[in-house]
Amino acid sequence: MDQNQAKKAVAEAALAYLVPGEILGVGTGSTVNYFIDALASRKADVAGAVSSSEASSARLKAIGIPVLDANSAGPLSIYVDGADETDPHLRLIKGGGAALTREKIVAEAARTFVCIVDESKLVPVLGQFPLPVEVIPMARSLVARKLAALGGEPRWREGVVTDNGNVILDVHGLRIVDPVGLEATINQIPGVVTVGLFARRKADVLLIGGPQGVRRLGG
Ligand code: A5P
Repeated sequence: MDQNQAKKAVAEAALAYLVPGEILGVGTGSTVNYFIDALASRKADVAGAVSSSEASSARLKAIGIPVLDANSAGPLSIYVDGADETDPHLRLIKGGGAALTREKIVAEAARTFVCIVDESKLVPVLGQFPLPVEVIPMARSLVARKLAALGGEPRWREGVVTDNGNVILDVHGLRIVDPVGLEATINQIPGVVTVGLFARRKADVLLIGGPQGVRRLGG
């Protein structure tokens, strides 16, 4: 099974968590794209979806699934999304696709966060993947200095503007032994909109695809 086959396998496995007749949350990325493709076969069970990006919204609409505003949808049954990195405790780094703020909002609104990854994303300690931080543009230099003081090496993702009109700093060189603490610390820096650490609200179920098939952590 190659990486794409592993992504497709976990995406299809996530269909088991659908709650018929309820609204679900849908994330962003290549693994989620496989999930949306698979969702086409279960359209009748889906009342609608709240999406974390314009790209996923367009894909959902293309298969005929109504895309709802987060403010009118209420609590969501499940949230299905990928991750850039996960540790064995289901804490995640997300935001490689720059959609981290909306992803965090939709994850928070869901009863169950089902994270779907291929096994290349599983690491013992988070931080090998540069940690994305969404920042109000005028605070970019200030936040970069604060992140450097925390021991990281922030790099501006030049040319990228988020769906919310902000910029991204990717923090290299971190070894994140206390993800909950670091998430809270970075969230408190003025100008930070969201840090791509999902540790306080981590995944509830992690589906990992690899040569042996799909295995599950949590749930
Ligand atoms: C988007 O901002 C990210 O959080 C994605 O969930 C992440 O990049 C996973 O993407 P792939 O499924 O393409 O690896």
